[in-house]
Amino acid sequence: MSILRFSMLAFCLALPVSAALAQANLNVAQYSKSNELWYPPNLDTWIQTGASIGGEYNDKPFDPQHPGTVGVVQMEPTAYRYFREHKRYAEGTMFLLSFYQAESKSDPQLPGFVQGALLSQEIHVLDKSRFGQEGHAFFMFPTPDQQMASALPPGNVCVVCHMEHGKFNGTFAQFYPTLRALLGLGK
Ligand code: HEC
Repeated sequence: MSILRFSMLAFCLALPVSAALAQANLNVAQYSKSNELWYPPNLDTWIQTGASIGGEYNDKPFDPQHPGTVGVVQMEPTAYRYFREHKRYAEGTMFLLSFYQAESKSDPQLPGFVQGALLSQEIHVLDKSRFGQEGHAFFMFPTPDQQMASALPPGNVCVVCHMEHGKFNGTFAQFYPTLRALLGLGK
């Protein structure tokens, strides 16, 4: 194949991705007819943005011997690419927070905790065209085999805390090292 033909092919293959990114509406999230969010496929390809330990939503004091859960935050990859380029979220951006049992290492016997079984997952979708003024919807997937979830009603506790304390557009970007560096919120 000539270099010209090869570069035209490469251009054509690249076009759909950049065109989709230029529209800034990712359309990756899939919904049922009654507006439930389908559990997204290929979550293993999502980009990890942050991790926390013992971050359950309750007032119990943190117990270092029994830290509870390890929380892992991931971002849908096309949303991450858009964010990386534009330093803002595209409509349709999805974040996933997965809670794993914090398990002490048994072999080799070292201090600290690793990710045990997956306990539950939550998804935050940012999309003004779909979720009106608020522009944020929160979905709970309490068991990994749940196929779809309805958005929690507007004004829910999730959106209230996220909008008040999340430092970037209702997300806790201040706790996600790559995102906060791109936004100039810290190292
Ligand atoms: C009291 C404050 C608070 C409430 C209420 C809350 N969150 Fe969060 N959320 C956080 C913090 C802090 C993080 C940062 C990551 C971590 O701590 O694990 C976070 C991160 C997330 C993320 C990762 C993406 C992002 O937006 O930063 C998702 C998804 C999420 N929460 C879903 C939910 C859902 C669903 C609910 C309601 C059932 C909820 N949250 C309620 C404080 C809160």
